[in-house]
Amino acid sequence: MSETLLEMNKITKRFPGVYALQSVDFELRAGEVHALLGENGAGKSTLMKVLGGIHTPDEGKIHINGNEVSILDVKDAQQHGISIIHQEIVLVPYLSIAENIYLGREILNKAGLIDLDKMVENSQEFLRDFKLEIDARTHIKKLTVAQQQMIEIIKAVSFESKIIVMDEPTSSLTDREVDFLFKTIENLKKKGVGIVYISHRMNELFEISDMITVMRDGSYIGTVKTKEATNDQLISMMVGRELTNYYDRSYSSSTDDAVMEVINLSKKGILHDINFKLRKGEILGFSGLVGAGRSELMKCLFGIDTFERGEVSVNGVKIVIKNPSHAIKNNIAYVPENRKEEGLFLSKPVNYNITIKILHQFIKFFRVDNYYEDNEVRNYIEELSIRTPSPYQVVRNLSGGNQQKVLISRWLATKPKILILDEPTRGVDVGAKAEIYSIMNRLSKEGVSIIMISSELPEIMNMSDRVAVMYKGKIQKILDRESYSQEKIMYYATGGI
Ligand SMILES: Nc1ncnc2c1ncn2[C@@H]1O[C@H](COP(=O)(O)OP(=O)(O)OP(=O)(O)O)[C@@H](O)[C@H]1O
Ligand SMILES: [Mg+2]
Repeated sequence: MSETLLEMNKITKRFPGVYALQSVDFELRAGEVHALLGENGAGKSTLMKVLGGIHTPDEGKIHINGNEVSILDVKDAQQHGISIIHQEIVLVPYLSIAENIYLGREILNKAGLIDLDKMVENSQEFLRDFKLEIDARTHIKKLTVAQQQMIEIIKAVSFESKIIVMDEPTSSLTDREVDFLFKTIENLKKKGVGIVYISHRMNELFEISDMITVMRDGSYIGTVKTKEATNDQLISMMVGRELTNYYDRSYSSSTDDAVMEVINLSKKGILHDINFKLRKGEILGFSGLVGAGRSELMKCLFGIDTFERGEVSVNGVKIVIKNPSHAIKNNIAYVPENRKEEGLFLSKPVNYNITIKILHQFIKFFRVDNYYEDNEVRNYIEELSIRTPSPYQVVRNLSGGNQQKVLISRWLATKPKILILDEPTRGVDVGAKAEIYSIMNRLSKEGVSIIMISSELPEIMNMSDRVAVMYKGKIQKILDRESYSQEKIMYYATGGI
């Protein structure tokens, strides 16, 4: 058995109103990928933030290579050979790739000045190793989310750490990048690095991990060898009950009534002659590789971006969507994929974030009617099982998956007729996924038409009535439920005609 790199014993962490960790144990060996699994809010990120020196534990001990250590801040953690790739990207947007990789440990020249050329040179080498054809001088804000995630990974690897934590590293990566990440992980394992891997994608855990530790409600539930574990066993450890009827969907025998029709929509270099009809009460899936133009299309339909040519009509009437308020007036809602940049007010409480778009409904005699507002908010907290000590908690303090649920609630609260969901279950645990699916199903039964972008094929295949497959800014094909299969979708998504 290989050496134990890390031991965390009886770690407890309290936040106001929340027991985030209760006496949690965790052990990591050299050359091992150890997955952490648990529902949204179970405490996974918090445990790793304790390890990374971001949170100080209230109780508990940490041993590294058998020696007790206290990790007071991020620098401490780095000195102990710990690197963390956080769930939310923490790169500095207006600095270059090279500056971000060397942030806080800049290379100096003989004169004691920052040697930017050297930093760029080294970074370029890392980028080459990672098969990324990007100039190391490029500013982070110019990169896609997937590329930023890769830079986070490069940064962690460049520290030559012995312990690397990856908190949902693949949530915004394409399949090709995931393959590449997994190869990188294999190489790190050979070098004796221990890796903590957090993900809600069970198939990934089975593919990459050696051990799996399950947490629930801030407590340690158990550790199993991946080889001996089953999917059902892990789910029941995680949620404390069996989970059946995962994809809850009664498919719509939808009529041809088009609620929305898009004709020849084009945006130079990005979208080319997009044509489709959205039927009443259907779920229209949008599949395609990252960069196929799916999110760009939705931003045009919601008035966040403009397009040069083409028409959009809703219920047979041509509409002009200059900005999101026009879209909302036409009963369109859009849940963006990037909750941090395009969605949530992190420093504001849950209730504010949920009701911001519908506040006008609660205005009585020029004052907000708190009673009705509160009721509405509590409904959503209950319906989507948003884990928060109260409606007044600031959103920043919620776990990643629960932030996503707040964002979805906000748009559901507008009672849309057309709901556009961009990767609705990203970073969301299995239980919450099932909740989101059942809400989608209910809405479609009520006649709401849903557009769902998703990179998860099982989700697309199980939830959609039809699937539009995009490739390089075009709709390559629209497939009916009877005629779509994983192979067909992949065929069109990679340019087949
Ligand atoms: N800074 C904070 N202040 C208050 N509460 C917090 C803070 N950070 C986390 N929490 C709470 O601690 C609990 C555990 O959160 P954590 O982020 O560790 O969950 P997680 O397992 O990583 O979930 P996810 O899968 O959604 O990322 C949650 O109830 C969360 O709301
Ligand atoms: Mg987390």
